[in-house]
Amino acid sequence: MAKDKSIFTCTECGGTSARWMGKCPSCNAWNTLIEGSSEPAAGKNRFGSVHASLAPTSEVLPLAQIEAADFERHPTGIDELDRVLGGGMVEGGVVLIGGDPGIGKSTLLLQAVDALQRSGMNTLYVTGEESGAQVAMRSRRLGLPDSQVPVLPEIQLEKILHTLQSRQPGIAIIDSIQTVYSDQLTSAPGSVAQVRECAAHLTRTAKSTGTTIVLVGHVTKEGALAGPRVLEHMVDTVLYFEGDTHSNFRLIRAIKNRFGAVNEIGVFAMTEKGLKGVSNPSAIFLSQHAEPVPGSCVMVTLEGTRPLLVEIQALVDSGGPSPRRLSVGLDRDRLAMLLAVLHRHAGVACMDQDVFVNAVGGVRISEPAADLAVMLAITSSLRGKALPKGFIAFGEVGLAGEVRPAPRGQDRLKEAAKLGFKVAVVPKANAPKKNDKAFEGLTIYPVERIEEAMQVVRGLD
Ligand code: TYD
Ligand code: MG
Repeated sequence: MAKDKSIFTCTECGGTSARWMGKCPSCNAWNTLIEGSSEPAAGKNRFGSVHASLAPTSEVLPLAQIEAADFERHPTGIDELDRVLGGGMVEGGVVLIGGDPGIGKSTLLLQAVDALQRSGMNTLYVTGEESGAQVAMRSRRLGLPDSQVPVLPEIQLEKILHTLQSRQPGIAIIDSIQTVYSDQLTSAPGSVAQVRECAAHLTRTAKSTGTTIVLVGHVTKEGALAGPRVLEHMVDTVLYFEGDTHSNFRLIRAIKNRFGAVNEIGVFAMTEKGLKGVSNPSAIFLSQHAEPVPGSCVMVTLEGTRPLLVEIQALVDSGGPSPRRLSVGLDRDRLAMLLAVLHRHAGVACMDQDVFVNAVGGVRISEPAADLAVMLAITSSLRGKALPKGFIAFGEVGLAGEVRPAPRGQDRLKEAAKLGFKVAVVPKANAPKKNDKAFEGLTIYPVERIEEAMQVVRGLD
């Protein structure tokens, strides 16, 4: 029998190491190495090197016998933020908030954490991007000169963890995760390895201590590299800021949420005193035209639970030998597809034209229900003819030219009617069956095919 020699075994993957390390060399998990004998267990297999006592398994139970613990939620009191979170911050939950620099991440989180501190929660704001004085300046600007939020200007992971350990806050903000680095890694701060490792360690801390951790992540201009995208899979909730930094409105969208609905949208206005929730946002993404203009079509989008009216603009202009297709706030590949459908099924050719489309106000629309509005805006621009006043359209358009229903079409129509829209071109399956007061004032044209929609529009000229 081999002489017993001390080795360290990872409780996560079973990997071994001859010396103790903070991080398992095989699976990169932190603090999982436990001293144990190298003596292989009887009946050695692929995992044979894990000593049975080192890998205690949890009890296996049928689902019905497992108690469904309700999450302990802490509402921040900022309604629009609580809405996207699914009701508030969850104990031990990890939230990632991403967005362009300057869009308002630090502002919103400082407002939220201050509200929680005032409600009696023990909080911590770790700032790596700004000095304590800069955070203090922001709090004064937000009208919170008496804020009691404890601020820690620190970027070294081990020191942050130490503070978390000693203060045991209910919630900690890490602003931003890209500035945090660990001594244990050789790669540069801000690199993918550092960001991922530090986030993994903080996540683990959140789970073991019950502290809610909010990670701020910048969307880097060069793409997703080392940006918040590499962290999406390890956190519970992913929120992204949308909106144009030049306009006052900001949207926060939940794109992943283990504690609530996805695609829920929170709407804010950036004011002198920070971000203020907009409780009735349906019409803020419409630009104000005194008279209808060619190339503009309003749609009702419904991602999440609230309908939003968004103006889709298109400009079709004669292009060079390789015409351009550009879109802002809408999917470019989908635009190319819609142009092909327009050509094949409605006889509208844009082959030699530049086509630009834009969702007004910096909103991003990912649902295919925008198709019909995009196509009508393009046709309107090409013909130089404006759609009628008070016109809306929505519906998905398939490759065969069919117009497919959008989810919760009637809610969309009701919202349009409520805001005084007059004419709607919608998928047949979305048209209301019976006369309902809620649609009063709105003339609804149900269509089944794109050709039909074009005909209706021409008939309205
Ligand atoms: P910030 O929250 O620092 O953005 P991020 O953390 O996402 O990089 O600030 C966003 C912008 O908002 C900044 O340019 C200044 C502006 N702002 C206001 O308009 N009003 C305010 O009360 C505050 C604090 C900031
Ligand atoms: Mg910031």
